[in-house]
Amino acid sequence: MSIKSNYRDGDFFSKKSKKEGYRSRASYKLKEILTTDFSLKKGQSVFDLGSYPGSWSQVAYELVGPTGKVAAIDIQEMKLQNCFFLHKSIEEIQESDFEEISEFIPFDLVLSDMAPNISGIRERDNALMIGLVNSTLSVIDNFLKTKGSVLIKVFQGESLDYTRRALKQRFNKVKISKPKASRPNSREIYIIGKELKKYHERTS
Ligand SMILES: C[S@@+](CC[C@H](N)C(=O)[O-])C[C@H]1O[C@@H](n2cnc3c(N)ncnc32)[C@H](O)[C@@H]1O
Repeated sequence: MSIKSNYRDGDFFSKKSKKEGYRSRASYKLKEILTTDFSLKKGQSVFDLGSYPGSWSQVAYELVGPTGKVAAIDIQEMKLQNCFFLHKSIEEIQESDFEEISEFIPFDLVLSDMAPNISGIRERDNALMIGLVNSTLSVIDNFLKTKGSVLIKVFQGESLDYTRRALKQRFNKVKISKPKASRPNSREIYIIGKELKKYHERTS
């Protein structure tokens, strides 16, 4: 089935997510990227930024299993079994938030599907996205393990360029991805950083 026909068909991915028990069609974006770009294993830990309604956390939990940990944060309340959830803004994260799951810190993988309230004004939306990216970079610098990975949603344009530069300073491998489940007319695009460098190897 072509991408175009997926969208004509009353949204193929929305129907599929309902049928397969995922909370949103976004699950298939992460599934595709995890299949092609990461190998998330049983027992590993993931931090899902901007997690509501929870489909990325569902997908991550399927892979890390009960010996691993999925932590998630959102300004919207989210209840999901087996998920350690923080109901707050990413800007308010503190080290003490993770006391209960300290054996899983630092994380193996940080995910960010966060999005600002979109105005349609390109410069404004990119600036807001860069604000969220800066918060994600702070999470990477404080809570991601060396050799760990990150996946961040950005918009094509300034926020993509900014994030790519910031990730190249920190990661050995940086790649862009536009999964099939991401609507072709959406400006969202995903950027992947793999193999976080040791702190002293990061460039400024
Ligand atoms: C596209 S949704 C995420 C969908 C999710 N990945 C899923 O698969 O179910 C983006 C989320 O980012 C959250 N968000 C936006 N700004 C945030 C912030 N400053 N801190 C935490 N979450 C934020 C929003 O509340 C929203 O739920």
